[in-house]
Amino acid sequence: MKRGALKVMFVASEAFPLVKTGGLGDVVYSLPHALHDRGADIRLVLPGYRALLRQLDQVRILGWLDVRGAEGIVSARILETRHPDFAFPLWVVDCPPLFDRAGNPYVNAGGQDWPDNAERFAVFARVAALLAQDALDIGWQPAVVHTHDWQTGLVSAFLADQPQRPKTVFTIHNLAYGGHFSHTDFVRLQLPSPWWSPEGVEFHGGFSMLKAGIVYADAVTTVSPTYAAEICTPAFGFGLDGLLLSRQHKLHGILNGIDTRIWNPSTDPHLPAHYSMSRILPGKRRNKQALLERFLPHADDAAMQAPLLGLVGRLVEQKGVDWVLAAIPVLLAETDARVVLLGSGQAVYEQKLTRLARQHPDRVFVVIGYDEPLAHQIEAGADLFLMPSRFEPCGLNQMYSLRYGTPPVVFKTGGLADTVVDATATTLDDASATGFVFDTPDVHAFLLAIHRALELYRQPTQWRRLQQTGMRQSFDWSDSAGHYLALYSL
Ligand code: ADP
Ligand code: GLC
Repeated sequence: MKRGALKVMFVASEAFPLVKTGGLGDVVYSLPHALHDRGADIRLVLPGYRALLRQLDQVRILGWLDVRGAEGIVSARILETRHPDFAFPLWVVDCPPLFDRAGNPYVNAGGQDWPDNAERFAVFARVAALLAQDALDIGWQPAVVHTHDWQTGLVSAFLADQPQRPKTVFTIHNLAYGGHFSHTDFVRLQLPSPWWSPEGVEFHGGFSMLKAGIVYADAVTTVSPTYAAEICTPAFGFGLDGLLLSRQHKLHGILNGIDTRIWNPSTDPHLPAHYSMSRILPGKRRNKQALLERFLPHADDAAMQAPLLGLVGRLVEQKGVDWVLAAIPVLLAETDARVVLLGSGQAVYEQKLTRLARQHPDRVFVVIGYDEPLAHQIEAGADLFLMPSRFEPCGLNQMYSLRYGTPPVVFKTGGLADTVVDATATTLDDASATGFVFDTPDVHAFLLAIHRALELYRQPTQWRRLQQTGMRQSFDWSDSAGHYLALYSL
């Protein structure tokens, strides 16, 4: 590391490949690497979940920090580790009563939030704020602390009134998750009483850790420019639109990138065959065949020729799963399309999708669960990618699908609006079209977009051009990393 390099501390609740529940994990892996490649000196602070600790090989104890928890003082051990997938040191907040438990970082096996989430992430934030002030005296003090989503919202608040503090940047990956807790939690955690006001963290009788990030960080970012504008309106603001509007001077929309080393159809180790923009077939066909054969005894010519629609994602309302559920029977009746879906989330969606797959075993394939290789195989093996999200702060899957020559069908919102160009006569003509965008939030409009896509799919030359334009898009991190560096030094 060069002397004088910009020191940036990332604080987040997940990071691929150690622990990931969605796109946040991808971003917290690839953005700091992009910054590291541009000369920044990075530390990434993560909670010591059991699943994460299990993957660490050699650790060094940096020291112990005692902070206020819900019942009294909680002691955290700070571990430093060099992990082969990371180009910079990781700092792990090891606090067994809060993080050493089996399962998901945020919810229990029944899908309910861990009951002590307020304490878990308040303690994590207190520790991170101390580390940002070099409380362990290790001689590394960041110029910038970059925090992500509600789990880290309190970090900026704890730092706000500290002398000689680093600059704080808070990124909103999804406003739908507000980190809402009760007044009782506020009191038990002994959070500073001046924070308890509408101008502070108070929110509808309780408090919001996400709001803390918005109020107290020096700069707030969203993961796409369109989402930055949308969240300042009641329709997308989750009750925080007024506050966000009043903070527009420090609100910046910076589009996520994707990790083009991991998501690359010409090298992806999860794929049975590789391909590239200049030679899409036969590699992509081999992927389709392998994907179909996972679900069908044999993928005959008819199956290979019929369009295959893919979806990967969290099965929650945000993702428009109910539109997908309503659209599938219509598609089965009116077209020869097949559908392959991978996801997990709300039980009701999981059950309805599983039922559809059982009713149509040769046309609807559903895998409930989390499966990284299969996610790559669907991106590569499907012909069309469905992502009809009602709102989408950025969305990575549509960018992966563009790069894999699998044009996406998306609702015109957030990052989807910023990354997909609808195929119209004009955009097809000037070769800027990359997918299919609908702008009325209902099933009818979604189906119309799919029908437009299926029509174009039957025109191989046009289709190839659409695929190639999508594959040519540059979504790597270099532009966005530059925007973050500029923001850090404002
Ligand atoms: P979000 O963060 O809202 O879930 P994104 O599109 O930004 O949506 O990112 C989702 C990420 O999680 C992608 O990397 C996607 O491949 C991955 N993903 C989501 N669900 C699954 C799943 N069931 N199995 C494997 N990967 C998944
Ligand atoms: C959130 C958003 C998603 C975004 C991801 C990474 O999970 O739902 O749109 O791509 O964070 O920033």
